[in-house]
Amino acid sequence: MKELFKDLVHLVGESAVLGEAQELAPYVADVRGRYQGDAVCVVRPRSTEEVAQVVKLCVDRSVPIQPQGGNTSLCGGSVPYAGERGVILSLSRMRRIREVDAANNSITVEAGCVLAEVQRAAVDVGRFYPVSLGAEGSCQIGGNIATNAGGTGVLRYGNTRENVLGLEVVLPNGTIWQGLRALRKNNTGFDLKHLFVGSEGLLGIITAATLRLHPLNTCHLAAWLAPVSIDAAVELLGRVQSSLGPRLTAFEAMNAAQLQTTLQHMPGQQSPLDPALPWHILAEIGDASDEAGLRTSLENLLQTAISDGLLSDAAVASNEAQRAAMWTIRHSVTEAIKKAGRGVNHDIAVPVSKIAEFVHRVGPALEQRFAGVQIVIVGHLGDGNLHFVALFTHEAWNAFSDPQAVIDEVHRLVYGVVAELGGTFSAEHGIGRYLLAEMRQYKSEVELALMRTIKHALDPRGLFNPEKVIPQ
Ligand code: LAC
Ligand code: ZN
Repeated sequence: MKELFKDLVHLVGESAVLGEAQELAPYVADVRGRYQGDAVCVVRPRSTEEVAQVVKLCVDRSVPIQPQGGNTSLCGGSVPYAGERGVILSLSRMRRIREVDAANNSITVEAGCVLAEVQRAAVDVGRFYPVSLGAEGSCQIGGNIATNAGGTGVLRYGNTRENVLGLEVVLPNGTIWQGLRALRKNNTGFDLKHLFVGSEGLLGIITAATLRLHPLNTCHLAAWLAPVSIDAAVELLGRVQSSLGPRLTAFEAMNAAQLQTTLQHMPGQQSPLDPALPWHILAEIGDASDEAGLRTSLENLLQTAISDGLLSDAAVASNEAQRAAMWTIRHSVTEAIKKAGRGVNHDIAVPVSKIAEFVHRVGPALEQRFAGVQIVIVGHLGDGNLHFVALFTHEAWNAFSDPQAVIDEVHRLVYGVVAELGGTFSAEHGIGRYLLAEMRQYKSEVELALMRTIKHALDPRGLFNPEKVIPQ
């Protein structure tokens, strides 16, 4: 292993290879503090050519490679296993914006660019990059693409996948696939970029991407809504979509437990409406037209929804500070849950028409089974995607003699209903290592076999992000 370290230093320079335990620490632990891994070193190449050389060197010696961006995976996808003697390949130094083409509505960036930097670079030329999520200040574009990240703009603009036009990838044999095309149309055989979007680092290293930009909305209206029930929230979504069409950019839901947990653990925040109300929606409408007309349409719609008994209350942000404050609450949820206790987390999606049934069936069943459990729900209602957390106090959690058995039981209950409703056990966070058992249980043999075939064709020795995503 000394040899490997020395040769990597020779390839990319001393400052690009980290080997001390305290240097490795932030790279081998996951953001939720649930997984602790090992690695020989972290390598931080500065160019695609350097990535290719590092890949060749490691593969020649059968050294496992853990690709890593901002290390914000919620599924343990970006850290190696304990005892693994591999290399963490961090893209964090590849953060150049290579080109912005406003007329073509596209931007070409290196994998290590932080999402927020890409958003800013788009705004600088009067355009908009629509992927937005809580970790946007530290997650990197390469990781967003490798996990097909979702977030709060999916309803209108799609997942990361829908916003990738081209990719540059270092393949496991060390060759560079130059696929940075900035085209909306290109029917020339298999669309290979889609193989790498959502591949979670199993098929190679994404080093750069050409992304789709959109017109910049000049007016943003955010509203905080309190529907009387989850059923009413779904009904309201339909009404807003019918009346405002694609101008609806977000329709984010949280239950009272989630809102109250956030207010309690993230001081300085204030709920726009009574936090005891059972459900809360943060809706946003974006447009390039003038605000006054849009505000009137929205307010009329909300007034009717109150008269019809769908909404208990509603508040439309009257300035940018109020709008930002609403989004701060929304983006603080993961942090708040982490502080509040031990959550058993789920990132499920079902058809929007089945969301209410999911909530009505799963919440009470868990409360009946585990006394004191709190059902904490936040999610992208417009996408049918809920982050559904069974939250235990630390004391309750520590009292369980077999916590893994609790996790398994909660998962079985939640995913069982999800499967019956035609849903998925991972909507936008990916699989990593967290959901390997569910892959085995809920994916068909046909799908798993296809995935294994593709993995084997590209990475026959199984060195790239080993033992993640595809169960053996
Ligand atoms: C969110 C993250 C957890 O929606 O996906 O807040
Ligand atoms: Zn989410």
